[in-house]
This record gives sequence, structure tokens and C-alpha cells, in this order.
Amino acid sequence: MPQPKIKGLVLSGGSGTRLRPITYTSAKQLVPIANKPILFYGLESIAKSGVKEVGVIVGDTREEVKEALGDGSRFGLEITYIEQEKPLGLAHCVLIARDFLADDDFVMYLGDNFILKGVEEFIESFRQRETGVSAQILLAKVPDPHRFGVAELDHSGKVIRLVEKPKIPPSDLALVGVYLFDKTIHEAVRSIKPSARGELEITDAIDWLISSNYRVNSQVVDGYWKDLGEPEALLDGNRLALEMIEPHIVGEVDEYSKVDGRVEVGIGAKIIRSIIRGPAIIGPDAVIEDSFIGPYTAIGPGCVVERSEVEYSIILNESSISDIVRMEGSIVGKRARVAQRATLPSATRLVIGDNSRVEINKN
Ligand code: TTP
Repeated sequence: MPQPKIKGLVLSGGSGTRLRPITYTSAKQLVPIANKPILFYGLESIAKSGVKEVGVIVGDTREEVKEALGDGSRFGLEITYIEQEKPLGLAHCVLIARDFLADDDFVMYLGDNFILKGVEEFIESFRQRETGVSAQILLAKVPDPHRFGVAELDHSGKVIRLVEKPKIPPSDLALVGVYLFDKTIHEAVRSIKPSARGELEITDAIDWLISSNYRVNSQVVDGYWKDLGEPEALLDGNRLALEMIEPHIVGEVDEYSKVDGRVEVGIGAKIIRSIIRGPAIIGPDAVIEDSFIGPYTAIGPGCVVERSEVEYSIILNESSISDIVRMEGSIVGKRARVAQRATLPSATRLVIGDNSRVEINKN
């Protein structure tokens, strides 16, 4: 029997304020973890689940997103871009995707979310749902529910209410950024009003479904899920993504260097008199000289690290780190330079962008 068609709606607009300054020059969804844009993990998993047609919501960063994803053929997908004039909310994205979605079922995926196990299982369970189920939401237990959309369940596990960023959360079950809907959601997004923060909230739309007696199923995610919209979360996502890489050394490693554990060294990269302790990835054409690269570090293409120790960090394309012992828990944007100064006066000199964060060790 042919499977019912499910489309994809991937949200790659928004403003990414919490990840500034990185998001001044890069779309939040294209920031890499283990040297691969966050969004690619989601698209690959959507493609694996058998979805073919994907609508991608784009905003201010449209050019960069379009350039990275193209027509979708590299993922085995057919991508249609849907322009969102302003980030007016997740439900607004459904509203403007009406023509693309038509009356088909769809998976809505927030482009900055990272779900280690992927979404195949959730999409499959929606395909197999009982008749009468209009939507399926994913929930995850979180320690800080007031920062999320939160679900209230009754004793049998049925969703009875959803609230966006509640001051007093009714449970510790946060909404994960993957939702499955049938066509009834279109009526819901047309029926709700913007919230106090001026957005059309998807939680209000799902709440509308529940109070209009449509059935909304929920499933609790087991395994890792994170919205990578903040620096600490990004570093944690990078850690998890690095744990999945296959050891693979294509670049040159000289006889004085040591490479241990799960390490990928890209084409054209050079490791000179250095120790790389995985999980770590060294991008194409990067040079690591007289340095130690510790676990959970992603060094982007074309970077130079010399006489330094770097651990649990993300260094983006073409940046250089010289004589820094040591750097940890850091995110360095593209073409940045971090160096120790040998000349007097012994002062710190900075040329850093707006909304940057620098923590200098007092020793
Ligand atoms: P959020 O992380 O909620 O919003 P944001 O991108 O504006 O980030 P910040 O809070 O740091 O300013 O958005 C979740 C995802 O949905 C993200 O990938 C951006 C996307 N999005 C849109 O495409 N359109 C929208 O109107 C909104 C609100 C989000």
C-alpha cells in the first residue's frame, strides 16, 4: 500500500539574538556542530524518513540559507523556499506556507533543533496513527520549563493544555521543536491572535486544536534533544555530534604527532608536532602546529592553531589561535584571531564585535 504523503516545513528564519555575535554574520541554523551546519542533521533525517517535498521558511538570512541548501538535491529533497517578511512566530510560518502545504500532512521542524536520534521514528508513528488524530507533539523533560512551551497532561497522559514560557510551569515537559500536523492546523493558525510578545504562537494553535476537540497525541523523547540557540547549548550539541563521527584521517599527520580516539582530519589539513585527542574534528586545510587539541573540539576549515591548547570549543572557518594556553568552552567566529602578546605593555588588546563575550583568566 502506498504510504500517505508527508511534507516537511523547516523553519530557518528568526533573528537568532541569543547567539550573537555569531549570528550577525551567519544564520543560526547554519552554525556548524562537528563542522556540519545544525540544519543539515535535521534535513538528512527528514530525507531518511521518506519525505521528499520540503518548504523552508527563510527571513533575513535567506541568501545564505539558499546558497547552503540549494534545490535540496544534495539531501535527496525538493526544496521550496517560503519568504517570511519578519519573524512573526512559529504559527505564522504555517500560515504563510498554506499554498505549499495544501491539505497534506506535514512535519514541522525548527531549524536550530538537534535531535540525536533523528525524527524518522516520530514521522513513522504519525503515519501509523489511529484515525481521528490531528497532531502529534514531542515532549522532553527539562530542568527549566519556564523557558519553553510546556504541556499539561492528565493522569492518563493526554495533553490537556499548552502554555508558552509559563511563570509557574504546570509540568516539566517542554515542547521539542518537531511537530506533526494534518490539515486541521490551518484552521487553528487562522483562528488565533498574536500573543503579548506579538507572535503567532504554535502553542496557542495546538491549544486551539485541543479545545476544539481535535485529538493531539504526545510522545516523550528519549535521548538527547536540544535547541542550539544559545552558546552553552551549541557547545553541548557539538560534543554530542563529535561523539558520532567516524575516525577518518585524510590530511597529513607528521611523525611527531599523536592522534588518539575518534578524530577526523580533513583533506589538506596538517598536524605538526601536536596531540589530537578525540572526539575532535580538524577541517580541511587547517594547520595544527605545536599544539594540543583536546576532546570535543571542532576546528573549522582553514584555521591555524599554533603553540596552543584548545579543548571543548568550536572554532569557525579561517580563524587563528596562537600561543593560548589554554582555551576551553569557547566559540570563535569566522576569520577571528586570538593571540598572546609578547611585547610590552602587558595589557589585553581587543578588537571584538558587538555583543561578544570575553572571559580572561586572572592568572
Ligand atoms: P526561536 O529560537 O524561537 O527564535 P529566534 O530565531 O528569533 O531566536 P532568538 O530567540 O535567539 O532571537 O526560533 C526557533 C526556530 O524557528 C529558529 O530556527 C528560527 C525559526 N523561526 C522562524 O523561521 N520564523 C519565526 O517567525 C520564528 C519566531 C522562528
